[in-house]
Amino acid sequence: MSKRKTYNRIAQLYDVLDWPFEFFRYKPVRRMLFEGLRGNLLDAGVGTGRNFPFYPKDCFVTGIDLSSAMLERARWRKSKLDTAVDLYEMNVTELDFADDSFDSVVSTFLFCVLDETQQQPALEELCRVCRPDGSIHIVDYAYSQNPFRLLIMKLWAPFVYRAYGAKFNRHTEQYLEAAGLDLVEKKFLYRDIIKLLIVRPKFL
Ligand SMILES: C[S@@+](CC[C@H](N)C(=O)[O-])C[C@H]1O[C@@H](n2cnc3c(N)ncnc32)[C@H](O)[C@@H]1O
Repeated sequence: MSKRKTYNRIAQLYDVLDWPFEFFRYKPVRRMLFEGLRGNLLDAGVGTGRNFPFYPKDCFVTGIDLSSAMLERARWRKSKLDTAVDLYEMNVTELDFADDSFDSVVSTFLFCVLDETQQQPALEELCRVCRPDGSIHIVDYAYSQNPFRLLIMKLWAPFVYRAYGAKFNRHTEQYLEAAGLDLVEKKFLYRDIIKLLIVRPKFL
């Protein structure tokens, strides 16, 4: 099933299904993600708008997503929280923005959903729309090195793939170089399971 169909189908249930993870795991991660970001900010794969409460007050934010149903939930959250954000239906691999449009780009749990063949095109697009002195923050999953946590994740993996089209072991970092990006920093924000990649366009 295509990712658009998957997310259109799951959108109404998404926040309910994700609630325990959101509350105990993602909220603190989202808080840390926006540190140091400024100016025009792109939230790629904005989903139902879970990042809205954490946008820096002085940023002008644009959110894009492939799924109209996820965006509908985001619009509901936008009006509920009175968030200043422009929302568009768009594929991250074909962004309808001019080069260098954004000072900052974030994506939370988007790359775990993108197939391996979409990873590099998506990174290339983020690189293209980000200013040369801008910063791209990618938050995503990694398999734990801890045997117990790894076992739990492997048991979850089939459900996560079926429900969300997501995998814990996407190889995003391997495509950075070819996409024209430098890895500035990699750190874990939750145990050794949720990582933050801070990347920026290569200095040519
Ligand atoms: C796991 S959700 C994460 C949503 C949100 N960023 C969050 O942190 O809660 C992944 C989102 O990526 C969107 N998505 C999947 N493929 C996409 C693509 N090619 N372009 C843009 N968005 C995409 C899905 O529709 C979904 O809303």
